[in-house]
Amino acid sequence: MKKISVISSVVLVITIAVASCSDSSKPGRVYMPDMAYSRAYETYSENDIFPDKQTNRTPVAGTISRDQLPPFPIAEDAPGDTTNHGKARFISNPLPALDSAQMKEAERLYLVYCGICHGSKLDGNGPLWKGGDGPFPAAPKNLTEPEIVSQGDGQLYYTMTYGKNKMGSYASQLSDKQRWMVVHYIKSKTGKPAAAPATDSTAKK
Ligand code: HEC
Repeated sequence: MKKISVISSVVLVITIAVASCSDSSKPGRVYMPDMAYSRAYETYSENDIFPDKQTNRTPVAGTISRDQLPPFPIAEDAPGDTTNHGKARFISNPLPALDSAQMKEAERLYLVYCGICHGSKLDGNGPLWKGGDGPFPAAPKNLTEPEIVSQGDGQLYYTMTYGKNKMGSYASQLSDKQRWMVVHYIKSKTGKPAAAPATDSTAKK
């Protein structure tokens, strides 16, 4: 007798369990809808807020994506004009001071893209000029001269981006980040660091 009642109650439990799960399209009562259903609009879903009913939007104008530098706000001068090059003086390097590995990379970029004319010593006497004996027809500027040393970060960036007289643009060879790295490199060599290295106020004296 005891055995029969155990078996029948097991059968009853299984029947209830199966019956309650049988309709998978009806999940039953949702106690916390905020947790069960996202309150955010689903990608590609319809959206009554906007007249075109699209949820996917393009970013608002002026949005800068992660890891991107702010755009250079100075346009290229008209031929013969230097107004914008002068204005670029007030644009400071958006890249923080480089660590030693990044500085090494900046030096490599300088030697590949600039040193061939401006020289590994930045004295304007690279192998393409060789004191006038090289194949390049115009004398590259000596970057250690006061005229260039006193230039702002943005002016060096301007020259690399748009070129200057006989020097062409390097915007297609160097990304904007790489150009700002080269600015850091030149400033580190010509004695006027673009930005003071961050000081750690908690460091032990
Ligand atoms: C093919 C040769 C050549 C290469 C490569 C070159 N330059 Fe020049 N650069 C010149 C010449 C020539 C001038 C002088 C232009 C003038 O004023 O007539 C010059 C001028 C400059 C000036 C001075 C601009 C001013 O305000 O008068 C800077 C700064 C400069 N170059 C930086 C660079 C950097 C940084 C690179 C590397 C990305 C580079 N150059 C690559 C030839 C070159």
